Amino acid sequence: MRSDYCGEVNESHIDQEVTVCGWVHRRRDHGGVIFIDLRDRTGLVQVVYDPDDGETFAEAERVRSEFVLQCRGRVRRRPAGTENPHLATGQVEILGAELVVLNRADTPPFVLDDEAVSEELRLRYRYLDLRRPEMFERLRLRSEITRELRRFLDEHGFLDVETPMLTRATPEGARDYLVPSRTHEGSFFALPQSPQLFKQLLMMSGVDRYYQIVRCFRDEDLRADRQPEFTQLDIETSFMDEEQVMDLMEGMMRQVFTHVLEEVLPEPFPRMSYAEAVQRFGSDKPDLRIPLELVDVADLMDGVEFKVFAGPAQDPQGRVAALRLPKGGELTRKEIDEYTKYVGIYGARGLAYIKVNDPAAGRDGLQSPILKFLPDETVTGILERTGAEAGDLIFFGADKARVVNEALGALRVRLGHDRGLVERGWRPLWVVDFPMFEWDEGDKRWVALHHPFTAPREADLEKLHSDPGACLSRAYDLVLNGTEVGGGSMRIYRKEVQQEVFHQLGISDEEARDKFGFLLDALKYGCPPHGGIAFGLDRLVMLLVGAPSIRDVMAFPKTQTAACLLTQAPSPVSEDQLRELHIRLRPQEKKKGD
Ligand code: AMO
Ligand code: AMP
Repeated sequence: MRSDYCGEVNESHIDQEVTVCGWVHRRRDHGGVIFIDLRDRTGLVQVVYDPDDGETFAEAERVRSEFVLQCRGRVRRRPAGTENPHLATGQVEILGAELVVLNRADTPPFVLDDEAVSEELRLRYRYLDLRRPEMFERLRLRSEITRELRRFLDEHGFLDVETPMLTRATPEGARDYLVPSRTHEGSFFALPQSPQLFKQLLMMSGVDRYYQIVRCFRDEDLRADRQPEFTQLDIETSFMDEEQVMDLMEGMMRQVFTHVLEEVLPEPFPRMSYAEAVQRFGSDKPDLRIPLELVDVADLMDGVEFKVFAGPAQDPQGRVAALRLPKGGELTRKEIDEYTKYVGIYGARGLAYIKVNDPAAGRDGLQSPILKFLPDETVTGILERTGAEAGDLIFFGADKARVVNEALGALRVRLGHDRGLVERGWRPLWVVDFPMFEWDEGDKRWVALHHPFTAPREADLEKLHSDPGACLSRAYDLVLNGTEVGGGSMRIYRKEVQQEVFHQLGISDEEARDKFGFLLDALKYGCPPHGGIAFGLDRLVMLLVGAPSIRDVMAFPKTQTAACLLTQAPSPVSEDQLRELHIRLRPQEKKKGD
C-alpha cells in the first residue's frame, strides 16, 4: 500500500513519487492550501493539497484528526523559509496528487500532543496513547533490549524453556492469583509468582543453563515500580558459584548498556554487604549517586538526659544515626517541618536537627532545639564524626533500627533529589551477604529474606539451628541507581538442608510434603549444585529508557488498584460460568459503618 514510511521521506526523494500511509496528526487550512501532517510509527511528513486539483482538495478538506489515509504525491523541497528543523522530514513536503481515506475517526478523547492528559484517560484509550511517538519509542527500545538480552544468553549456551502458568503456589512472599479448576471441583491453580521451582527442576533435569522472559503474577500492594503482572528475565545455571553467576550477569548488563545506550558500566560492579548498605544508606538498595551517608552516633548519646536519644541508644534493637546535609543550613523552618512529616510516613516520631553555622565556635556556632539536652563532648563528637562544615545541617533519627533505617534512608533519597545532589551516570551495585531470615514481629516467626530455597553460607550451616538470625545466605541483588533490578541466589540442593530451612520457617514436615513434595522428591534423585537470578525486565527497561513509571514501558499495564481500564477487567462473570466452576459467591459483606 505504501512506498515509504512517513518519517523516512527526505531530500533523496525529491522529484520522486511516493505513497505514504498513516494517521492525520494535524490538518491546517492556510489560505486555500491544506497541509496535512501524516503520522506513522517513524514520524511525520507534510502533505500539501492545492485547490487546483478540485476533487482531491475537496477530499482533503473533509479529513479530520486521526483519519487513516493513503497519500500519493511528488516530493519537493519546501519553499525557502518554511523548512522545519525540528522534523526529520522538515526539508521536504509531498505535493498531494491522490488521497484515499482508508478510515474515518471520531474526534479522539484527547489530543495526542497534550502533555497534561490524565493517566486514567491514557490507559482507557491505550491504543491512542501508544500512537504517541514517545510511547512507541519506549516499546521499540524494550524490544531492542530483550533482543540483546536473548542474543547474549544464546551466545552463552542458555536454553529458552517455557514453564507452566497454571501451577501451584510458589512462595515469593506475595498473595497468589488463583484460577478455579472446572474438572477438579474445589481445587485451584495458582498463577506463578515466579518460575522458581520449575527452573530448579530444570537444573535437576540436566538443562544446565536456562532462561525465560516470563510473566509473573503477584497480588500485592502496588507501588510506583510494581505491577500485579510483570515480566522477569529468569535465569538458572548448574555447577556455577555466585561469583561466576554475578560475573556472567555483569557481562550481560554491560553488553546491553553498551548496545542500547552506548554507556559503559564499571567493571567489575562494586559489591557491598547487606549490613554495610543498611548501615551507611539505611537501605538494601542504595542509590550510590547520592553522596549522603548515615553515621552512627548511639555511643555518643547513651548517657545523655534526652530520653528520645538515650532510649534507642541503650536498646540493642535501637539505632541513633545522623545524616549530614551539606549546605543544609539554607533549609527554612517550613522545609524542615515538611521533612519531619515525610519521615513520619516511615514511622519516625520526630526529626531532630542541628544547624551548623560555625563548627569552630563550638556550641555557640550551632542552632538547634535539642542543643540544650546535649553535653559538650557529645556535641563535639557529632561534629567530628559527621565532618560537619559551616553552613551544613545534621538530621538525627532515634528509634528501633528498622524505623531509623527506613526513615533516614528515604530522607536521604528525597534530599538528594530535592537539593540537586544526584550525580549523573549509572551506579550498579551488587548487594551480598544477606541474612537468611528476618524476624516477623507481627507473626512472631522467622521469614525468608529471599525465598525458602536460598542456600545458607556453608560456614553458617551450624547457625541455621543455633542462631538463625545470624545465619547469612548465598543471595545477591543487583541494584542500579537505587532500584532493585534483579535478585537471585545459590539454591539448596541437599534435602536435609531444605528440610531444616522449612523447619526454621515454621513449615511443618506435613505442610512441606503437601506443598513442595515434588521438590523434596526431586532432591533425592541427583540434584546438581545450582543457582540463578531473575531481573525485573520492566524495571530495567524503565531505567534504560528513562521512563517515569513502570506503566510507561508496558503496552497494557494495570492501575494502582490492579485493574485494566481498557478492557474493564476484572469483571463479573455469569452465573453459569460460576456454576461450572463450582463456585457460589457470598453475599457482599456489609462494609463497616454502613
Ligand atoms: P524476586 O522476587 O526478587 O526474585 O524478583 C526478581 C525481580 O523482579 C522484579 N519484581 C517486580 N517488578 C515489577 N513488579 C513487581 N510486582 C515485581 N516484583 C518483583 C524486581 C526483582 O528484583 N525467583 C526469584 C529469583 C531467583 O531467586 O532467581 C524472584 O522472583 O526487579
Ligand atoms: P520533643 O522533645 O519530642 O519536642 O523533640 C525534640 C526534637 O527531637 C524535635 O526536633 C523532634 O523532631 C526530635 N525528635 C523527637 N523524636 C525523635 C526521634 N525518634 N528521632 C529523631 N528526632 C526526634
